[in-house]
Amino acid sequence: MKRVLETKVEDNFMIRFKYYKSNKPKPSLEEVIKIQNDTIEVNNISNIIENDPRTKLLGLKDFTNWKTYTFKKHPGLFLILNPFTSLGQRFWIRKCLEEYPKKPNKTNIDIERNIEDWWSELCKGEQWDRKLQKKLRWTTLGYHHNWDTKVYSEENRDVFPLELAELCDVVAQYLGYVNFNAEAAIVNYYHMGSTLSAHTDHSEVNLEAPLFSFSFGQSAIFLIGGHEKSYEPSAILLNSGDILVMSKEARLCYHAVPKILPALNQPWNNHEESKIITCDDVKTKYINIKKIVTEMNRNVDNEWTCFGSYVQESRINVNVRQVLMENRKTLDD
Ligand code: OGA
Ligand code: MN
Repeated sequence: MKRVLETKVEDNFMIRFKYYKSNKPKPSLEEVIKIQNDTIEVNNISNIIENDPRTKLLGLKDFTNWKTYTFKKHPGLFLILNPFTSLGQRFWIRKCLEEYPKKPNKTNIDIERNIEDWWSELCKGEQWDRKLQKKLRWTTLGYHHNWDTKVYSEENRDVFPLELAELCDVVAQYLGYVNFNAEAAIVNYYHMGSTLSAHTDHSEVNLEAPLFSFSFGQSAIFLIGGHEKSYEPSAILLNSGDILVMSKEARLCYHAVPKILPALNQPWNNHEESKIITCDDVKTKYINIKKIVTEMNRNVDNEWTCFGSYVQESRINVNVRQVLMENRKTLDD
């Protein structure tokens, strides 16, 4: 009888993942997607003529300054190159560190111990607790991602942060999605050696709605392939402030983060373009203006120092999804 030898065949995704993950030898960045060659710049996608009054409040530049690209090899994928102001970046970094890991939101630390407020715990005492700093890997908001069952439930849901929902709504509108509702988010915290392995995000009931992914702090190599792991993935460099949008055909594609790279620029420190904004600058019916404007301006100097040290050696990714079908309020509707 012939014996069939079973050999484990590595798929193309895995081969690329290992290539970029490697420290010895270091991967060449030669084949990382070049904006000039591998993408197409898109202008005025949704025929928006006027700027949205919310951009200023949310730490974004005017729409006229946004640079948006689609990928020749990856239909449905959009990259908006850092549309944030410097103070805007600081505002969102601070939210991700100080506010989002607080209860009732869930974090990976909950699994071993109960911490009400990770950031204050970290800063308590004489010395900054480096062990606790490195421990935080994720926080979930809104419908909490269930890491075991991958199923969302009403019992495992908290209020989604208003300002983050507004941010996604502005970006969604800009791309022509008028009915996007931010209902679930994972905030990922990466250190210099961290990786995220190949996966698809398919837990949401609504898989037609786009997924918004915001990057802050250190840079990353992001791999995106096809609906199967045999498809050779492309590598994209994501820098602080960049927004990646996975829509249509790209929504269910395999993706991963094999490497965190030191940021070449620190757009959160570009003081020359950081204008303090005042309430009179902004006329909008949308949100609690005063609160956001004050918070944005708070991040100018000494209050920023600890947050600055954190992002100097970490990357933060905010990954936002709509869970429900249009016009539904709960999973049971
Ligand atoms: C995720 C994810 C990508 C990133 O959280 O599902 O794919 O850029 N994150 O960190
Ligand atoms: Mn993902």
